[in-house]
Amino acid sequence: MYLTREEEKMLEGEYGPAKSKAMEVLVKVGEAVGAERMIRIKHAHVSGASYLTIGEAGRRFLEEMASMGAKFSVPVTVNPISYDAESPEAIPLTRISRDIVEGQEAIIRALSLMGAELKMTCTPYYTDIPSKLGLARGDHVAWGESSAVAYANSVLGIWTNREGGPLALMAGIAGRTYYYGPHDSEWRRPKTGYRVKIERPLDSAEAGVLGYMIARIHREEGPPLVDAWIGGEGPLKEFLAAIGTASSLPMAHITGVTPEAPPSRLYEVVEIGAEDLDMEMERLSPPGRPDLIYVGCPHSSLEEVRELARHLEMRGGVKAEVVVSLSRDLYLKALREGLVERLKGFGVKFVRDTCLIVSPFSKFAGDIVIATNSYKAYYYLAKRGLRVGVARISDMVELSR
Ligand code: F3S
Repeated sequence: MYLTREEEKMLEGEYGPAKSKAMEVLVKVGEAVGAERMIRIKHAHVSGASYLTIGEAGRRFLEEMASMGAKFSVPVTVNPISYDAESPEAIPLTRISRDIVEGQEAIIRALSLMGAELKMTCTPYYTDIPSKLGLARGDHVAWGESSAVAYANSVLGIWTNREGGPLALMAGIAGRTYYYGPHDSEWRRPKTGYRVKIERPLDSAEAGVLGYMIARIHREEGPPLVDAWIGGEGPLKEFLAAIGTASSLPMAHITGVTPEAPPSRLYEVVEIGAEDLDMEMERLSPPGRPDLIYVGCPHSSLEEVRELARHLEMRGGVKAEVVVSLSRDLYLKALREGLVERLKGFGVKFVRDTCLIVSPFSKFAGDIVIATNSYKAYYYLAKRGLRVGVARISDMVELSR
């Protein structure tokens, strides 16, 4: 791989052992995938910050990097952790043990020492980060949360590989990543299109299920072109999170959304009809009357919080527990807008910094029925043996009265 003089110096250890290690890892991975050079990045987002997800091995790795003197060269934010830092037992049913707190605090300490901004959200794009850093179309970053990667590439036009957690960390330390995949405009050009024959806007649950359907049939390494009525914060977020969950794709080119010119020709166009989507929605629907409604995987948008408030008010509340997970930034906005107060009036629990998946929730959930508008949450909770289904926000409320 071609390295600049500065990159060579970094690799040789002139800027300390941590930068040398970071370059070594990035060069190895870059060479393995055939990258010809490195590219400078403006920001990194590190996934794998929850002690529950990365365990003792991850904690030791982060502590070793911090004790080596690792410092981030660019602004770095981090993904959710195992609990709400201000209110550790905010998730219903869930108990947080001393071990988890100890492991999680060590991880936070190590990341802070390296200079991370502890946003603890999987939706850095809903925080002040893009505007604060002036991230603009065509900028290169290194993000490590699959749903955020797909959102950055497909909606914001900010270019990133789908980095693993440790790679995003190394990229943050080196201020660079390997030039590969979505960093290359040629790679980003779709060859296969998916035309969705539904003449109305899809809601967030439908968009997520559609994302799963397309990811399941798309066979190329490059992005699919998606011609569907997907607009608004919730549907875009859920569609792209599902693409990231059901495949290794780092993006989809969505007509009218992705800020790049569409390809002049496609090799194949696949049609998806309303009945195909209805069938999948039916198959994935909750296995009974929900005991718990979950909104906020990836962390909730304001639009979803407003939608939930509207339906709860229309129906006069529900019998199920309702949990909304979201970033601290959006929680403050929801607070200012009066949404938190309105929803708390219906017993809704707000959870920040974490979610049902990266917290120990599934160990305590037993056989309750969970309904969510998120295909991604459905996928991970079902994988852990929980009784869960996907439904529209309006239907979850209706089903739980
Ligand atoms: Fe975010 Fe947790 Fe879902 S980290 S993407 S809310 S699994």
